[in-house]
Amino acid sequence: MPARVKAVVPVHLYGHPADMPAIVAAARRHGAKVLEDCAQSHGAVVAGRKAGTWGDAAAYSFYPTKNLGALGDGGAVYSADAAVAAQVRLLRQYGWRTRYVSDIPGRNSRLDELQAAVLRVNLRHLEAGNASRRMLAARYLDRLGAAGLVLPTVAAGVTPAWHQFTVRTPRRDALLAHLAERGIRCGVLYPVPLHRQPAYADATAVLPVTEQACTEVLCLPVHPGLDSTDVDRVTGEIIRWATA
Ligand SMILES: Cc1ncc(COP(=O)(O)O)c(C=O)c1O
Repeated sequence: MPARVKAVVPVHLYGHPADMPAIVAAARRHGAKVLEDCAQSHGAVVAGRKAGTWGDAAAYSFYPTKNLGALGDGGAVYSADAAVAAQVRLLRQYGWRTRYVSDIPGRNSRLDELQAAVLRVNLRHLEAGNASRRMLAARYLDRLGAAGLVLPTVAAGVTPAWHQFTVRTPRRDALLAHLAERGIRCGVLYPVPLHRQPAYADATAVLPVTEQACTEVLCLPVHPGLDSTDVDRVTGEIIRWATA
């Protein structure tokens, strides 16, 4: 890891935690901080510990579609480091230590109290919701074995949060259209890679694997409001498409 790396931001994408023991060990060797992006991984576990507890800090999103969602926007930073937590509290509210006195440039990032009240209730249902997601994911894996798609894998020692169930196929757009015509809405996370975003475009970046993934990934419906019959309908349509 080059000396100029100050921090590493592992994104627990789709709810599958990154390899935190390896990332933390590498970061420590180089004096880099670790900031976990837990927006999609509430409740996920890696090597016996929750995602979000490995790094120096972790950022959570409580956007309504997340595994733990509010009724509007919200988020939180977790840290076991009191100094980091104190700094985040400052940043959250105008850099105020004392009211109306900004010690550092901060912002208004307070979690709205009504959203916090909703989240306190929804937190009680997180584990049950994640268990439903695990059941749905297991059924997808079981049913889609012969559909010719690249299916998600689970690394050893990992319990994913299954925020998304993401398959890959070079014929992604055809499958997306086939399912949409049958009333099954899927997501594409994400169609445009970071280095091709107009705001962050970097013509020097050569990332063919990333670019190919953006043309092939398809997120099938997976959330606690679904049951095994829904999965059977989705997988039935996929198998019909694959064998047509
Ligand atoms: C992986 C990841 N990181 C960060 C974010 C940003 O979260 P928010 O929209 O709450 O700022 C999201 C939300 O979509 C996400 O999925």
